Amino acid sequence: MEKNIKNTIDTIYDRRSIRKYLDKSVNPDLVQEILRAAMFAPSGCNKQPWHFVVFDDKDKILQIKDMHPYASALSTAPVCIMVCGDTQKEMAEGFYQVDCSAAIENMLLAANALGLDTCWMGIYPWKDVMENFSKTFALPNNVKPFALISLGYAAMKVERPKRNNENLIHYNKW
Ligand SMILES: Cc1cc2nc3c(=O)[nH]c(=O)nc-3n(C[C@H](O)[C@H](O)[C@H](O)COP(=O)(O)O)c2cc1C
Repeated sequence: MEKNIKNTIDTIYDRRSIRKYLDKSVNPDLVQEILRAAMFAPSGCNKQPWHFVVFDDKDKILQIKDMHPYASALSTAPVCIMVCGDTQKEMAEGFYQVDCSAAIENMLLAANALGLDTCWMGIYPWKDVMENFSKTFALPNNVKPFALISLGYAAMKVERPKRNNENLIHYNKW
């Protein structure tokens, strides 16, 4: 593990969706660290209703790209992680989506802190896309494909956008 990890606030502001990656592989230890960060996310009743399928085979990643309408990030990404939710583990119906989202944000931030870049590509709630992933990867009935995360080293630089909008903040009343 790198000792010189970025501070949390800079990591949050610096993270950007990256859709073009260098032809550079990712050390599997870093992938493990990112998955560990995912599993440290909060979840309803601490049910942790998630699974992670890691793809580092270029042909498979390109096959996955063709299964998703907005997955240009997978053309060059050396790693793709499919995040799935488990309906048998979630606290109540509708929780796996929220819990998986928390896990994914941890992944994106951990990746950024480790010098890596990501893009979150939703599978849920598109029924037809979900069905295709479930069928192609023979997922059990209780395991639902939720999102794809591309992972690698950015081949482009994206500046911090300006997003702080005071109009969206309300104090003590609407
Ligand atoms: C639920 C969700 C689904 C997304 N799906 C896609 C997608 O299918 N393809 C893609 O390239 N980006 C996708 N994104 C990334 C957004 O486009 C991106 O977060 C947004 O444009 C803001 O840019 P930023 O992440 O750099 O702050 C998704 C993000 C979220 C949270």
